[in-house]
Amino acid sequence: MNKQDQLAQDFSTWELPGLELHRFMDELRQMGSVVPITYYGTSGYLATTHDALTRAFKDTQNLPPERAYQLGIAPLIGENFQSMSGERHRLYRKLATPTFRPKMVDKMDSAMLKDVANELIDKFVAAGEADLTKTFTLLYPYIVIARMLGIPRDEETKFADWVVGLLHFTSDPERAYRCRDELWTYLDPVIEDRRRSPKGDVISQLIHDEVDGVRMDDALLKSHIGIMFSAGSSTTHDSLGNLLYALLTTGNWARVRDDEALRDSAIDEALRWEAAVSFLPRMTPETTSVVIEGVEIPSNTFVFMGIASANHDPARFDNPHVFAIDRTEESKSMTFGHGPRMCPGMHLARMNLRTTLDSLLERLPNLELTSLEGAAPSGTIFRHPTKLLCRF
Ligand code: HEM
Repeated sequence: MNKQDQLAQDFSTWELPGLELHRFMDELRQMGSVVPITYYGTSGYLATTHDALTRAFKDTQNLPPERAYQLGIAPLIGENFQSMSGERHRLYRKLATPTFRPKMVDKMDSAMLKDVANELIDKFVAAGEADLTKTFTLLYPYIVIARMLGIPRDEETKFADWVVGLLHFTSDPERAYRCRDELWTYLDPVIEDRRRSPKGDVISQLIHDEVDGVRMDDALLKSHIGIMFSAGSSTTHDSLGNLLYALLTTGNWARVRDDEALRDSAIDEALRWEAAVSFLPRMTPETTSVVIEGVEIPSNTFVFMGIASANHDPARFDNPHVFAIDRTEESKSMTFGHGPRMCPGMHLARMNLRTTLDSLLERLPNLELTSLEGAAPSGTIFRHPTKLLCRF
């Protein structure tokens, strides 16, 4: 499909597997650092260059980050720090995220993460072949989150179903509301219990922490559990699939297996090469038009941060479409965002990726893809393989 035909298509329907997306982004970047697109039938814009994103992520005046989130999941789960602005955002982000700070993640017992990975591998290893999305990448993040929250083992699957349901709010609102109601009903007595007798889990910390004299009430506790664990689960699942696809299709599986020192940089490179969140929505103010990168944009208009495009900007990365685990560029990828909204879960995400990679390399050292069907990451906003058919 040529550029004009592609641009005429609604942005929400772009699938563009693997490098198709990145090659198309090259064309858009050449058109300008902010280009027009169509999104759900309305006119919107896409920021394409690394420099443009660096500025736009910090431009909370012209592109207030909370606006898009107020229209997104907040109507389902209620107000949370993602849908708040300014000082309230700062305060509630601080209250909600201490468990995810680098020092806390470093102190976190990675044994739990390893146990989850090994329990999953135990279930399919004897078969000699499996679709790793179904048997591993889709399950791992939800179980980890359930354990962080202190959910009993026999209820983990139920919990995962609820979180997945929340994530499908736009495509299946009925299911999302049912999952929300069931999750809230489940959490009520858990919150009451942790209020009376705190444990070492995230729910107890959210209940008892105080910042500037403020504590979360029950409604905020639930919306924050909802936002952090829906934001953290699908992104981890997507990134895990993208990492496996990258290593298995570029001949790098054996390299990282044989040289442990390469693993962290391979993870960073996979996060750059195929970002799980490839585009992030921002929206212009309700009543005033703004100028972004010299382009006048009307009020109430979506402006997408083209993370996938910035991560492949040749002004920042040499041969950006090549998956090169020994890159030396100083530029940072935009995979976790930038500025005041930068992902608070990124340290946990990296630790999850490293732990699972170590476990898979140890248990399935000769892993190989048997088919490319569904393997190339695809999708517009969230990108991941739909299948990873492997032999080991
Ligand atoms: C590889 C996995 C992950 C990726 C690619 C990712 C990506 C991102 C990005 C790009 C943002 C910026 C949003 C914006 O600017 O509007 C973000 C924010 C956020 N992420 Fe992540 N994330 C990941 C893992 C996690 C995890 C594990 C958690 C929590 C456990 C988490 C929780 C959040 C939350 C709550 C925000 C909102 C921050 C705010 O508005 O201040 N993420 N994430």
